[in-house]
Order: sequence, then structure tokens, then C-alpha cells
Amino acid sequence: MSPYAAITGWGMAVPERRLTNADLAQLVDTSDEWIATRTGIRERRVVGPGESTSTLATEAGRQALAKAGLAAAQIDLVVLATCTPDRPFPATACTVQANLGITGAAFDLAAACSGFVYGLNVATSMIRAGAAKNVLFIAADVFTHYINWNDRNTCVLFGDGAGAVVLQASDQPLGMLSCVMGADGNSEDLMAVDAGGTRLPATPQLLEQGRQFVYMNGREIFKLAVRGMGDSSLQALADAGVTLDDITLIVPHQANLRIIEATAKRLQVPMERFMVNIERYGNTSAATIPIALCEAADQGRLSDGAHVLLTAFGGGLTWASAVVRWGK
Ligand code: UT7
Repeated sequence: MSPYAAITGWGMAVPERRLTNADLAQLVDTSDEWIATRTGIRERRVVGPGESTSTLATEAGRQALAKAGLAAAQIDLVVLATCTPDRPFPATACTVQANLGITGAAFDLAAACSGFVYGLNVATSMIRAGAAKNVLFIAADVFTHYINWNDRNTCVLFGDGAGAVVLQASDQPLGMLSCVMGADGNSEDLMAVDAGGTRLPATPQLLEQGRQFVYMNGREIFKLAVRGMGDSSLQALADAGVTLDDITLIVPHQANLRIIEATAKRLQVPMERFMVNIERYGNTSAATIPIALCEAADQGRLSDGAHVLLTAFGGGLTWASAVVRWGK
């Protein structure tokens, strides 16, 4: 058994199709000015024909394997964090496993926008327990599937995408050093999709009412997100035995630039130490953090040995923060 699970590869995929704020202003009563100042988003990517959660996840996974220099045959587990599977059943992880020619086990994990940090903890724990050696962990969401394009409260916020990492057993103190996860099911209705599950199977009447679309209490979630990400970040730092001064880069969930700014203020950390790319992708749900991680790595913002703080908040409600030490 190895005590650590190093991140040895990473990759990302977003659809080709861009939807700008100006495009959305043609659909609903909104403006580039409102969206940019209230959220920081300028454009997002939206799937086109033939694209789905599995196609994005497969591409991100392929890149991560190449970066790690591992062959498909060396992967003994595929975990996919998503709340927008290709089909209700079976797990989309199995489709990705087949697409990549992997023969190891595969399963999905649902923790909404916190899915990447939750899943990183699960994948790392599997390696630490000796149940897996090389794990392909992907977070992918086609959240626009849940969007009512007539609802300006939600349609401007989300985009589609996928990010992946390869985790490998290591004796070096690399990968996830600490993780704090939380949930509050009593607040599950602050953000949800009601119809289409077993509680409320989709009927023509429900579809007519638009109950297959996401709704949320944005203002309430905003406040809870700032508190949840801030508090769990401090706990994760303490658990890892490091301070904010030791952190090279903070990679937060990208739901709203103002949430990130308020979290920076709460933690008393300048915005320059936060990775932000929300302006180009919007909120891609579980995929925001691995996409931001990939871009940070490719921009040279993560050197070997750097400590990175990941923090997320989303539907469930769920939240999670982790300290990761970068390097192979
Ligand atoms: O991924 C994790 C889960 N999600 C989140 O973390 C989202 C958290 N919440 C937010 O990001 C923000 O609350 C929103 C971006 C959703 C909304 O921003 P806000 O500053 O909280 O606006 P608001 O909800 O207080 O709405 C202010 C006004 C309202 O008009 P009235 O009632 O004051 O007349 C809205 O109808 O802005 C209106 N509005 C819009 N106007 C133009 C809402 N959406 C739009 C829009 N364009 N797209």
C-alpha cells in the first residue's frame, strides 16, 4: 500500500460551440453588461450534435493518460464525477472505459459542483487502501441539458465541459494531503432538477411545466457558498498542516466571479493567487476545478512541489476543500 496518490496526468475538453453573452441577449431579456458584472462570465461552451458527457469525458481522459504516459491497460479504475450522465443507467464511466480501451472497474459519483473534490478524495482513498494503483478520475458535466433557455435567472450561468486527472500510487508526499467534505440535505431544494428521477418520473404534464429544468435560489446559495468554501478551506489547510502562505494557487469552483472575490476577501488572500477562467466557460459544474487546474498547469502556474488549495460548493448542498501537492 502506498500512502500517497500523485497527480501524474491531466486533460480537459470543452465543446467547440461558443455561446456569448450577446447570443443570450437574443434569447432572453438580459445584457452582456448584466451577465459580466454580476457573474464574470463572457461566454460558455455548449454541446452540439453527437456530443455528450461521455464524449467530453473521453477526450479529457485521453489527454490525461497521454500526459501521464500510461497505457489504457495500466488503469485499474475509472471514476467519473457527474450529475448529467449520458443515460440514467448504466454508469457513464463504463462508456468512457470502453471508449478508452480500459479494462479496469468503472463507476459514477454524483456530488454536483463539488464532484471533483469529492471524487479526488474517493480515488485517492482507493489507492491508499491498496484497492487500486492507477486511477483515471474525470469530472464531466453537460449542465446545459438542464437549462431552460427562456429562464434568464439560470441560462446565463452554465456551460459544458470535462476535466480529468490520472492518480498513481506514490511513496512521495504528493497528491491530496487533506480533504474536508460536507453536505446539508435539508437544503436540497435550494438548487435542484425535480422531474426525471424516481420520485417524480417525467410525464408530459411535468415536461410541459418545465420541471425537468434546474431552478435555484441564487442569492441564498451565494451566501452559503462563500461561507462553506471559506470555512472548509481553513479546515483543509489545518488538516494538512500548512497555512495560506504555503499555498501557491487556489483553484475554486467557478460559479460566479463575485463568489470567488468574496471568498478571497474572507480568506484575506489577493485575487492574483486565485485561478479564474469563468469568463470563458461559465459554470461547468463538477468540471470547473479540473479545467482550471489544467489551464493553470499548462500556463506554468503549478511547479513541482507547489501546494494547491481546491474548494467547491454546489447542489445537495455539498461542499469540499482539499490541499494538494503538485508533482509526479
Ligand atoms: O454551482 C453552484 C451553484 N450556483 C451558484 O453558486 C450560484 C450562486 N448565485 C449567484 O451566482 C447569483 O446569485 C446569481 C448570478 C444567480 C444572481 O445574481 P444576484 O446578484 O444574486 O441577482 P439577484 O438574483 O438578486 O437578481 C437581481 C435582479 C432581479 O431583478 P429584480 O427582481 O431585482 O427586478 C433578477 O430578476 O436581476 C434580475 N436578473 C437578471 N437581469 C438581467 C436575474 N438574472 C438576470 C439576467 N439578466 N440574466
